[in-house]
Amino acid sequence: MSEVQRTLVLVKPDGVRRGLVGQVVGRIEAKGYRLVAAQLRTADAALLGEHYGEHAGRAFLGPLVEFMLSGPVLAVVVEGHRVIEGVRVLSGATDPTLAAPGSIRGDLACDTGAPVMENIIHASDSPGSAAREIALWFPDLG
Ligand code: RTP
Ligand code: MG
Repeated sequence: MSEVQRTLVLVKPDGVRRGLVGQVVGRIEAKGYRLVAAQLRTADAALLGEHYGEHAGRAFLGPLVEFMLSGPVLAVVVEGHRVIEGVRVLSGATDPTLAAPGSIRGDLACDTGAPVMENIIHASDSPGSAAREIALWFPDLG
């Protein structure tokens, strides 16, 4: 069954700072997915508040927003058959210490003891999140 989807990927500030953009995007392209749009930018608090709206009230939200404001992120819209699940699998578990070797987080990140987990990549977790997040980061994308 054909189910072409789009997902939002962010290479987070730790990934950009460490020069890992090429590796992250390369893994996504090598898997067979297609890049639709990309933008290197520093987010602002309003955008991140909306982006992480599902985490309102969680203790890690403040440190998470601070981390996400700490430098530019690469925002990318990626397209492919079942790409939402596919990029989540490529990313690996949220905690980079536990993420499987072979995954982006498992291979490229570790827990540094920072106030929030710095784990290189964000990827939309459902079709609803993907539509909402793509509209937030790329309002001009039809
Ligand atoms: P993401 O949204 O970034 O793709 O990651 P995720 O779905 O795997 O994880 P989620 O639960 O949505 O959490 C968003 C991000 O918040 C940071 N986090 N730190 N206890 C902690 O220190 C903690 N919990 C969450 C991580 O950067 C996580 O990716
Ligand atoms: Mg999430």
